[in-house]
Amino acid sequence: METEIKQVQKVDTGAFANEQWPINDKKYNFLPQRETFYFGVYSGGEIIAYAQTEIRGGIAETRSLLVKDGLQGQGIGTKLLQHVENWAKQEKKCRKSVVKTSSGWPKTVHFYEKLGYAKDATLSDYYYGVDWYFMSKQL
Ligand SMILES: CC(C)(COP(=O)(O)OP(=O)(O)OC[C@H]1O[C@@H](n2cnc3c(N)ncnc32)[C@H](O)[C@@H]1OP(=O)(O)O)[C@@H](O)C(=O)NCCC(=O)NCCS
Repeated sequence: METEIKQVQKVDTGAFANEQWPINDKKYNFLPQRETFYFGVYSGGEIIAYAQTEIRGGIAETRSLLVKDGLQGQGIGTKLLQHVENWAKQEKKCRKSVVKTSSGWPKTVHFYEKLGYAKDATLSDYYYGVDWYFMSKQL
C-alpha cells in the first residue's frame, strides 16, 4: 500500500469511535476520559497561587503549581496541594496523586518529598537536558 504522511489539524479521537479503529477496546478504553480542574488561592481578591490538576483513571496529576514570587515558603503551596489531594480523593475517588519535576528545581523536589511524594521513576537528560522525576503519593 502506498502511503504519505501529512501534518494535519488536531482530530478529536471521538471521531474514531467506531469498529474500524482500535479505540473501542474496553480493556484500555482509550476514549478521552480526562478532565482538568483549576484551583486558585486568593488573598484580598487577588490570586496568589494556582494549580491545574488532570483527573484520569483514578490518578490526579497536578501541573503548574505556582505560588506568587515573594509569597513562597509561607505554607501556601502546601495548603493548596493538600486541598487538591483531599478533593481528588473525596470528590473524584482518586487513589493516587502524581507530579513531575526536575533536578533543575531541587527546592521543589524537597517540597514534594516533604508532602509525602516519592520518586517512582527518573528520566535522565529529558526536557531541557535535565533529569525529570515522576513522583507520586497514595491518597
Ligand atoms: C514549589 C512551590 C509551589 C511551593 O510552595 P510554597 O508555598 O513556596 O511552599 P511551602 O511554604 O508550602 O513549603 C515550604 C517547603 O517547600 C520548600 N520550597 C520549595 N520551593 C520553595 C521556594 N521557591 N521558596 C521557599 N520554599 C520553597 C521549602 O524548602 C520548604 O521546606 P523546608 O521548610 O523544609 O525548607 C512554590 O515555591 C513555587 O511556586 N515555586 C516555583 C514554581 C515551581 O517549582 N512549581 C512546581 C512546578 S513542578
